[in-house]
Amino acid sequence: MKLSAKQRAILAGKQGKGASKAMEILSALGRIHGARDMVEVGSVQVSGVSYNNIGEHGLAFLEEWADMGSQAVVTATMNPGGCDRRMWKSLGFSPAFVRKQERVIKALEGLGIRPTLTCTPYHVDVAPKSGEHVAWAESSAVCFANSVLGARTNREGGPSAIAAALTGLTPRHTLHTDEGRLPTRIIAVKCAVTAAADAGALGYLIGRLVSSDKGGGVPFITRVQPPAGPERLTWLKALGAGMAASGSVGLYHLEGVTPEAVAHGAKLAKAAKQKSVVKSLDEGRQALNRGKGKLDVVAVGCPHASPEDLTRILRLLNWKKAQVPFWIFTAEDVRKHAEETGVAAALGRCGATLVADTCMVVAPLKELGVHTLATDSAKAAFYLPSHHGASVYFGSLEENVEAALSGSWGGPPHA
Ligand code: F3S
Repeated sequence: MKLSAKQRAILAGKQGKGASKAMEILSALGRIHGARDMVEVGSVQVSGVSYNNIGEHGLAFLEEWADMGSQAVVTATMNPGGCDRRMWKSLGFSPAFVRKQERVIKALEGLGIRPTLTCTPYHVDVAPKSGEHVAWAESSAVCFANSVLGARTNREGGPSAIAAALTGLTPRHTLHTDEGRLPTRIIAVKCAVTAAADAGALGYLIGRLVSSDKGGGVPFITRVQPPAGPERLTWLKALGAGMAASGSVGLYHLEGVTPEAVAHGAKLAKAAKQKSVVKSLDEGRQALNRGKGKLDVVAVGCPHASPEDLTRILRLLNWKKAQVPFWIFTAEDVRKHAEETGVAAALGRCGATLVADTCMVVAPLKELGVHTLATDSAKAAFYLPSHHGASVYFGSLEENVEAALSGSWGGPPHA
């Protein structure tokens, strides 16, 4: 792999030990993936922030790296951590857990990474332009950046994202290249995909279909479109999060949406070697909706909710009061905006709580006494049983609001 003189100097330690370690990691990854050189990135999004996921070893690794003294040279943001930094006490997080989580955040801040603590940096202030190279780590954010914004990023791991932050570079391979972005399979959708939860179920099914495609699955999706208006982005976020979870997809081409598919749709479609048809979402909905027993919590906002999502939930609640805890996960900046505009207070009167900095998948759910949840997120429904042993009801946002208001799941039964 070709390194420029400047990059070789970083490797040799000219910009400090931390940046040298970063260049070592990036060079090794570049060699593994057959990258020809490095590409400059406009922003970085770092995952592996929750202490619940990285544990003591991860914390020690980050603190050691931070002690080396190097700082991010491009805008770098953090994925959700394990707890709400402001409201941890009322939500039931233990002080011991919060102390560990704060150490993780401090170490990352020491590396110059901003504590945005969200998987939707594009709702805060970091939205790359079409064609821009970035190094993002959170799987749903990667899918959104590549497929909706037209940026170029691989699915980074925690350490490789930090390495990209400290150098402003990432190895040029896979989704950074034209050939790596070619579709592997056409997916013709021949059923209605109306709500965001439907898009999540569709994403889950597509992920399963393309997961074994040679060279990593890149679907080219036809015959389906997101709704117009404020639900459009929520639908697209849910679609990508679903397939990122079930099939490790980092890029989908959607006719009329993905910038490359808009510009060269017919040419791209010809590259796909395989074709599948999705005629119904039932299989996906049933696989994700495996809840049993008494509902502890209704949890929505995976990926993190946008300001428009909050307004929509408020409308659905219609001033009625939730009978079980109703958590809406979002970015702290979005929560602050909701507090300023009165939306947070109105949601609170309906028994809904805005939870920031974390989410239902990366928080220590058992420590919070949560065993059975309802959600409208295919990604959360996919991971919660394996990550937390949780029992999960999956359905539309409307069904989730109903469940919160009645205190029990009344959506489609577990098949
Ligand atoms: Fe975001 Fe957590 Fe879901 S990081 S995409 S809310 S699993």
